[in-house]
Amino acid sequence: MKLENFKGVVTGGASGMGRHFSLALVQAGAHVAAADVNEEGLASLAEEARDLPGKLITFKTDVSNEADVIGLVGGAWEAFGGLNGLVNNAGITRDGLLVKTDRETGLVKGMPLKQWQQVLDVNLTGAFLCTRELVQRVVEKKAGPAVIVNISSISRYGNMGQGNYTAAKAALAADTEVWAKELARYGIRVGCVAPGFTETPMTAAMKPEMLEMMKKSIPLGRAASPGEQFMGVKFIIECDFFTGRTIDIDGGMRL
Ligand SMILES: NC(=O)c1ccc[n+]([C@@H]2O[C@H](COP(=O)([O-])OP(=O)(O)OC[C@H]3O[C@@H](n4cnc5c(N)ncnc54)[C@H](O)[C@@H]3O)[C@@H](O)[C@H]2O)c1
Repeated sequence: MKLENFKGVVTGGASGMGRHFSLALVQAGAHVAAADVNEEGLASLAEEARDLPGKLITFKTDVSNEADVIGLVGGAWEAFGGLNGLVNNAGITRDGLLVKTDRETGLVKGMPLKQWQQVLDVNLTGAFLCTRELVQRVVEKKAGPAVIVNISSISRYGNMGQGNYTAAKAALAADTEVWAKELARYGIRVGCVAPGFTETPMTAAMKPEMLEMMKKSIPLGRAASPGEQFMGVKFIIECDFFTGRTIDIDGGMRL
């Protein structure tokens, strides 16, 4: 699919990589419905995209909320006269160990269920809901070809302190393969980008000593830019023979 023909939803479009992906797509002439919980970020994104060649509309959406997602996909479908793309990018981290011993009291505390569930809800269930809603319409209307890009993470290989995030991102890469097999008959491809450490507000929130440690463990010695991650998204959209696989863009880092 040519980038300029992409008519799709980008979740988590208000910030970081999703914002970059939305702007790069609209710059190429695509139609993008950017969805996010962050209304302020969406408003400034719409402003930034105003004079670009394509079209950008925004939807305040919590991807983990089924009614929100139904409204998003229905609204974007109507606004653009159909959809043929989706980037499942919205994500959060709520890091913590499975169990932790308090140094002073010796008390052992487990990860609260809420901390586990929130990460699964946004990173995995959100992608499931958005994909299901889009695919259902494409299949019903026989509107293929279409392309779905999931954003996983290098953490899917198992990152200490990220049991919740690793579970969600590993499952997203696994379902990329399942959905690709199930949907090929409808002309729908599904690919996945697994970014390594990338400069965005998500990583800027990390402690400086942690940031330095991370950079040292990357063979290329630095974090990626969102533009470098977009190269993976662009490849998946454009290469009509690519489906069911995950591209690691991680500077050679192994967890
Ligand atoms: N930055 C990295 O180093 C890195 C590495 C690997 C994978 N990732 C993944 O890349 C994606 C983008 O991350 P980023 O670094 O740009 O983060 P970010 O925090 O800058 O952006 C994430 C966006 O998702 C939105 N969001 C959060 N919860 C949402 C919800 N329930 N519904 C809709 N939107 C929601 C946020 O408001 C935000 O705009 C995420 O899936 C993340 O897990 C990031």
